[in-house]
Amino acid sequence: MTAPRRFTGDRLVIATHNAGKVREIAALLAPYAKHFPSAGSLGLPEPAETGLTFRQNAELKAKAAAKASNLPALADDSGLIIPALGGKPGLHSALWAGPQKDFAFAMQRVHHALILSDAPESSVACFTCALSLAWPDGHAETFEGIISGALTWPPRGEHGFGYDPIFIPVSDTRTFAEIDHDAKTRISHRATAFRQLVAGCFAPKDSPC
Ligand code: IMP
Repeated sequence: MTAPRRFTGDRLVIATHNAGKVREIAALLAPYAKHFPSAGSLGLPEPAETGLTFRQNAELKAKAAAKASNLPALADDSGLIIPALGGKPGLHSALWAGPQKDFAFAMQRVHHALILSDAPESSVACFTCALSLAWPDGHAETFEGIISGALTWPPRGEHGFGYDPIFIPVSDTRTFAEIDHDAKTRISHRATAFRQLVAGCFAPKDSPC
């Protein structure tokens, strides 16, 4: 097996238009890159997420941004997986919020779908995240992280984004939206994928090697 390609520049595009993801990825990236513009700030188009897995979608978004910007690009594809709903909303987690990206509505949908499911008392859920780092020549390195937990209703907390107010990580009694930003950044599915990315592809920005 060949070693993952290392990131050696000082500019890296955060290939997402989701402000919540930009905030979390920028905090994770700070020790490893000097400049990390987002796809939104560069006016890059949002590619259609036609992949069949989180991994495939992360790769296609990273490759599209790397090609369009001529810079290495890091993309995230993530979502909430609920076993009692057969894994939904899963790959379609963003779509459940509708064109207005209304996550209060998306969380309601989850709540109603669970009530109507065969296991309405089940609260088991996971967040999963694939992070893909791609270069303008089309090469990509991809890593995945997962965190398990439980769903709660009604939503609680003001931090975070997306489904954070209904998700309680297994190590806590608070929802992701009640935990402060730094604490979520240490334990989340995104942080787990990021640790693997760092081990494979990054050296600290002041490292001589
Ligand atoms: P996509 O990766 O652009 O398809 O969007 C994934 C969707 O999953 C986001 O819009 C959020 O709704 C949800 N999601 C992913 N990660 C998180 C998280 O850390 N907290 C809350 N919701 C998340």
